[in-house]
Amino acid sequence: MAGMFSDIPRGTVRILDPGAGVGTLSAAVCERVLRQESPRRLVFELWENDPRLIPLLERTMSRCRDSLRDSGHEMEFVVRIDDFVLANARKSLFETGPHSSFHLTILNPPYFKLRKESPHARAMGHVVHGQPNIYALFMAAAADLLLPGGEMVAITPRSYFNGPYFKRFRKWFFDRMTARHVHVFESRTEAFKGRAVLQENVILHAEKGGEPSDVVLTTSFGRDLVDLENSAVAYEKIIDNSSGDHVVRVSTSRLEHEIIEVMDRLPQRFRSLGFEISTGPVVTFRSTEFLRHERSSDTAPLLWMHNVRPFVTRFPSKNGKPAHIEISPASKKLLVPAQTYVLLKRFTAKEEKRRLVAGIMNAGDSYSEWVGLENHLNYIYRKGSDLTRTEAFGLAAFFNSALVDRYFRAISGNTQVNATEIRGLPLPDEETLIRIGAEIEQTESRDPRTVEEVVGRALRLPRHFIDELIEVAQ
Ligand SMILES: C[S@@+](CC[C@H](N)C(=O)[O-])C[C@H]1O[C@@H](n2cnc3c(N)ncnc32)[C@H](O)[C@@H]1O
Repeated sequence: MAGMFSDIPRGTVRILDPGAGVGTLSAAVCERVLRQESPRRLVFELWENDPRLIPLLERTMSRCRDSLRDSGHEMEFVVRIDDFVLANARKSLFETGPHSSFHLTILNPPYFKLRKESPHARAMGHVVHGQPNIYALFMAAAADLLLPGGEMVAITPRSYFNGPYFKRFRKWFFDRMTARHVHVFESRTEAFKGRAVLQENVILHAEKGGEPSDVVLTTSFGRDLVDLENSAVAYEKIIDNSSGDHVVRVSTSRLEHEIIEVMDRLPQRFRSLGFEISTGPVVTFRSTEFLRHERSSDTAPLLWMHNVRPFVTRFPSKNGKPAHIEISPASKKLLVPAQTYVLLKRFTAKEEKRRLVAGIMNAGDSYSEWVGLENHLNYIYRKGSDLTRTEAFGLAAFFNSALVDRYFRAISGNTQVNATEIRGLPLPDEETLIRIGAEIEQTESRDPRTVEEVVGRALRLPRHFIDELIEVAQ
């Protein structure tokens, strides 16, 4: 991380380390400077609110200072035993910010969710909304404290790269900071046969202000930084501002890069074809009085995530959860008419191969004219009319393809599938979607290979590309 700063210039360099712990990152910056021949003058400001760590932090920094001095450099540091966010938050967007005075900031902030009413969230309301994660507040406050042209290197979860929860933060942050280098840690697991991967942590190197130019993208596998893949990618390919909220998209392999290219060229968006997506209205713990284990004349089926399999809905469930929901005036708002829906799971376990799993529900799958959809499902429908079966097959095949699954992973670090992200997804034109649907509807086997084959051919993808997707899909 210390090596990612473009330069440690001569003259006084002021460095901020928020959430410094025992000073590991600042020590790494000192180590980098130690290797420099011409003298440097470093002034560190380290923030740490855990008093137990302070003696260790001071010891680290004193040793660094001694070593630097021995090698002809100068170094001073100050440790602030205080809450970095509360002490530096701007009260409102319009109030003058804190005094920006740092050339560099290096951070590995704490990661945890805050309540919206927490003092931290309130103090930084201009940057985040909803239930923020403290790391975003650290990044924002640190960005505020940088001088124009100042640089940040931050290791964090990658959840801020996309999705509605971090939208305000992303906009705020990338309106001020220009990304220069993104590093993605990928963790492979055996279950993925070494091909499909999950991405969790990222390092961002960004400059305050500055002109966008190519972004360096590196990837390493697991904790091992040796196996590094490296490429330079056009700024707008990584920071996609087409929807105005700076979604960070990282394609970490040639295949993923091609997937993004193909998807970006698709002519339609989910919404423009008249599809709607909503989240299942039944929040079970708030609706216990309506849930039933037995079917009766005044119940409708209640569908959960486990009822949804690729292309089908399997009912009833066998796992002991209530499989029915009462139909009454009080429960009506929780029910939707039994018609054709594509059901998308909202969550998949991190280890699961697929982020997107789309089943189809037909009117006949429900014994009632109503159906209850549990809140961990998203359902796709058309406003004012019913989805045709062929359309439903087309959509489900598209969502169940490795092409879309891998695209979704590249744009989304969340394991959650949010309706907002689906609304922004590229789609083929209606005719192509129907063609995919018609073909899949007629096939007996809707296994991953067939789905990839049908979707790939309908989109006129090159043969080698379809073959690669088939390999990933299985
Ligand atoms: C993930 S650790 C990183 C420590 C160090 N930077 C490193 O990389 O080894 C985050 C540190 O931030 C500190 N911290 C948490 N909340 C803080 C706050 N509001 N203000 C200042 N420090 C905080 C924690 O005590 C912890 O030492």
